Amino acid sequence: MTTSPPAAGVGTARADTARVDTDRALAQVFDTVRANIDAFGIRYPDDTTRDNRYPLRPAVAGFAEGENRGWTTSFWPGMQWIAYEHTGDAVYRDAALAHAADFGRRVREERDLDTHDLGFLYTLSCVAPWRLLGDEDARASALAAADHLMARYLPSAGIIQAWGDLADPAQRGRTIIDSLMNMPLLTWAAEQTGDSRYSDVVARHTAELRRHILRPDGSTFHTFYWDAETGEPLRGATEQGAFDDSCWARGQAWGIYGFAMNHRATGDASLLDASRTCAEYFLAHLPADDVPFWDLVYGDDADAPRDSSSGAIAVCGLYELAEVDAEGAERWRAAANRILASLIARYTPARAEDADTVLLHSVYDLPKNVGVDEGTLWGDYFYLEALARATRPGWRPVW
Ligand code: GLY
Repeated sequence: MTTSPPAAGVGTARADTARVDTDRALAQVFDTVRANIDAFGIRYPDDTTRDNRYPLRPAVAGFAEGENRGWTTSFWPGMQWIAYEHTGDAVYRDAALAHAADFGRRVREERDLDTHDLGFLYTLSCVAPWRLLGDEDARASALAAADHLMARYLPSAGIIQAWGDLADPAQRGRTIIDSLMNMPLLTWAAEQTGDSRYSDVVARHTAELRRHILRPDGSTFHTFYWDAETGEPLRGATEQGAFDDSCWARGQAWGIYGFAMNHRATGDASLLDASRTCAEYFLAHLPADDVPFWDLVYGDDADAPRDSSSGAIAVCGLYELAEVDAEGAERWRAAANRILASLIARYTPARAEDADTVLLHSVYDLPKNVGVDEGTLWGDYFYLEALARATRPGWRPVW
């Protein structure tokens, strides 16, 4: 196993959260977003960097180089929308609108839609311009994506299948903790249309995940299988974690954020408890510098890479939890500030021009040796969302 080249000071001391210069960090992110707009135009960077530089998304059968496919492309316009909201600079808006049009084409032409990640994809790319600018085309694209997502619902099991064709025997009846973050597209669709079918699916899917993907000790499975015909819950397993019964760091971070966000949407108090439980476990398994190893099975002396993207997601999740949990708010916010301070101090490039990514030292999929110790599109997005939340209390992300 490889070890991340340590960013300055990794593993040395807990970051002092008293004063964190989030304004400066935010300005540096905006510089990188601006440079990447010039570099990529309407095309899309790959999921992760190579040596901290994003290559174009590679060509695969049926898709040209840089074309819109996969689950991560919306994190790129998602960053542009946050940059536009914070600066008012039309360069960010115009770039993001070009991507919204391309996401419209993707859903109309039904290109690479066999995934639950339609939530990530269409919330950030198309719900955002609807909310910010009242863009009707983007609204129609997001509603079409919500309908595709609904078609993945398996009523007997009460879950949305995560990956692949619904007839694929290897994926049938399987969902994953990340799916919590895809539910806001359905919540939004319910608000827009007044059709409770969308919100009923959110309520059922999130309740099933709480019951089965969250373990009694507060850790989580990455994935869980149901019998799609009888609805019987079958077993937990991992895809990107160290072991089936270990706790993949990013899954736990999705749990903090996703359960809190779906509690806000549904009012289900058990989802608030689930978010708190995920947060307790996550925080209790952080190393000394407050940024998790890629799997929480590893402790301070481990020769294992960190996943800074999990840290950034957890920061957003803890800020969200603080907003819905008055009792624990102070503690959750302090923990979020501590992790964010460490990310800023130890996991970012010294200067914008040193990298295409804004958050160094993430891991995509270590068991498959994909994107290990690199920047990632989602790590960049959630780092920016975390900075935006820290800098402008009261600001709401699009979710
Ligand atoms: N949603 C896939 C991942 O977190 O890697």
